[in-house]
Amino acid sequence: AVTRTFSIIKPDATRRNLTGAVTKMLEEAGLRVVASKRIQMTREQAEGFYAVHKERPFFGELVDFMISGPVVVQVLEGEDAVKRNRDVMGATNPADADEGTIRKTYAESIEANSVHGSDSDENAKIEIDFFFDEAELVG
Ligand code: CMP
Repeated sequence: AVTRTFSIIKPDATRRNLTGAVTKMLEEAGLRVVASKRIQMTREQAEGFYAVHKERPFFGELVDFMISGPVVVQVLEGEDAVKRNRDVMGATNPADADEGTIRKTYAESIEANSVHGSDSDENAKIEIDFFFDEAELVG
């Protein structure tokens, strides 16, 4: 089925001017950008977005990193979008990511790993709603 997922192009990628290169890989993987905006996340937004990780030892550093520069938040649509996006992103740690994936190609570390993508349809909806109003999604 055609579904939607949520993506973030992270500060390490925007800093290196890779917004277009990353988006091209998403598009070539069969995903369509139906919403996109470049934002500077506030600490409150980053803490709220990553609330599920707040007990993890890397939470503080993760939040600091995510507000260290602009990000591009996007809604992606395609056949089986969550899985399709996860496949093209590659493993969280670029050292474990397959050749040809975004993280293998561009990520600097497990933290500065260039992209975020939703891990389920349920979380995709929650994450889309966190950053976008329905009227901003143009299919
Ligand atoms: P993301 O998909 O955005 O979700 C949580 C993020 O935490 C993850 O990608 C990583 O970039 C980051 N992170 C930093 N350190 C770790 C770690 N040790 N294990 C998992 N994720 C980590």
